[in-house]
Amino acid sequence: MQIEPPQFVFMTCKAGAESALKHEVATLEPDWRPSFSRPGFLTFKNSSEPSIDSQRIGEKNWTFAHCLGISFGRLAGDQLRELVRGFWDQPAIVALVSSGVPLDLHVCQREPVSEEDRGLATYVTPLCIEIEKELRSAAPENAKLTREMPAHRKASPRHSHVLDVVVVEPSEWWIGYHVAVRPAERWPGGAIPVRLPPHAVSRAYAKMEEALQWSHLPVAAGDECVEIGCAPGGASQALLERGLFVTGIDPADIDPAVLEHPRFRHLKKRGSEVRRNEFEGVRWLTVDMNIAPEDTLEEIEAIVRHPRVALRGMVLTLKFAEWNLADRVPDFIARVRGWGFRDVRTRQLVTGGQEICLVALKRKALRRLGKKKRPRRKGTWVAAVERSEPPAVRPESVAPIDVAPAADLLPRPDEAHSAPPAPHF
Ligand SMILES: C[S@@+](CC[C@H](N)C(=O)[O-])C[C@H]1O[C@@H](n2cnc3c(N)ncnc32)[C@H](O)[C@@H]1O
Repeated sequence: MQIEPPQFVFMTCKAGAESALKHEVATLEPDWRPSFSRPGFLTFKNSSEPSIDSQRIGEKNWTFAHCLGISFGRLAGDQLRELVRGFWDQPAIVALVSSGVPLDLHVCQREPVSEEDRGLATYVTPLCIEIEKELRSAAPENAKLTREMPAHRKASPRHSHVLDVVVVEPSEWWIGYHVAVRPAERWPGGAIPVRLPPHAVSRAYAKMEEALQWSHLPVAAGDECVEIGCAPGGASQALLERGLFVTGIDPADIDPAVLEHPRFRHLKKRGSEVRRNEFEGVRWLTVDMNIAPEDTLEEIEAIVRHPRVALRGMVLTLKFAEWNLADRVPDFIARVRGWGFRDVRTRQLVTGGQEICLVALKRKALRRLGKKKRPRRKGTWVAAVERSEPPAVRPESVAPIDVAPAADLLPRPDEAHSAPPAPHF
């Protein structure tokens, strides 16, 4: 859908990532100028002739934007009723409602700024739920809202048209519209609700779940995965619970809950010390080392370029000691593409720290071939485990995509490993 000028775009991001996002916008959309800026929330003005196409902007690989759309501007007021009336009376909203298109509603709060809340952020706060209830009950009769107030929230349908309210302050809402093109855009605030179950040994469990759900990487039960930088083991745990075989490489200790799992083995070494034949037959590589992105990529390059290594895809965490490393994201993507990975995407995960997640697949078509089984090489540890005990996948342990409690995200023992706190501008 095309919206006539003047055109503004709104974006949400992690608090602290605003300058990185501004840089990304300057690169991807050079005609957009920064307009309004608060921690975790930005707007941009389109200064070029062609109108903004909300479908097209949603299709881009945005690394630092959690959610984005066309901005209809600000509503300010002290009374909820008055703000709700202002929303439905806003001319662009009236035009969308009159067009008869089915609409969904996303109400989210911008990223909280305070340090205690870092990583605990839930974008759909009780205030957002109250606002959404009020908006729905005051909707004009001709508004075709696609759903009732979801008690158990589900993702908006693919390609649905979504009206957005970003609660910048309780008395200051920014309103807009987007088309839910990618998986994260189907959730308020672009936050795929992943759970950190009580048995998870580190927060990296939730990061791995978010990465897999965001990227739709076709990992399947029975696949072999190597994780470099796996201690204490939360991400490995998430992969084990999806039925994978995991070789964890890390000089640090692994939590016994993971170490004792029959489909896990630990190589207590640095990535560079591991013999290359350990990677033969391995389909997926996941990497989460607390070292500089260049060093991470250097270590991986030596593995993926080896002639006997044939990975299908990778999930890499690239830690940013400094935000200005964000300028290098296109170089990081180009480098990984240079290793033969055609489909490379990046995103600053909601559950991650001062870092980005890079997901790479050899070919896009592999997304559809995820469930294909390949024969085991004889004499490998995986073949031995399979012979002794066929892997039992516990379906109940696979994190469901439609559960909501992002508030389950609690500080975990690997906090000390995580990147330094984000600076606030
Ligand atoms: C953020 S923690 C990883 C958290 C882990 N992915 C989890 O799921 O719990 C970073 C880890 O990288 C490991 N590390 C750093 N350099 C490494 C290297 N060159 N090879 C292997 N592991 C490395 C550290 O020992 C540390 O345990």
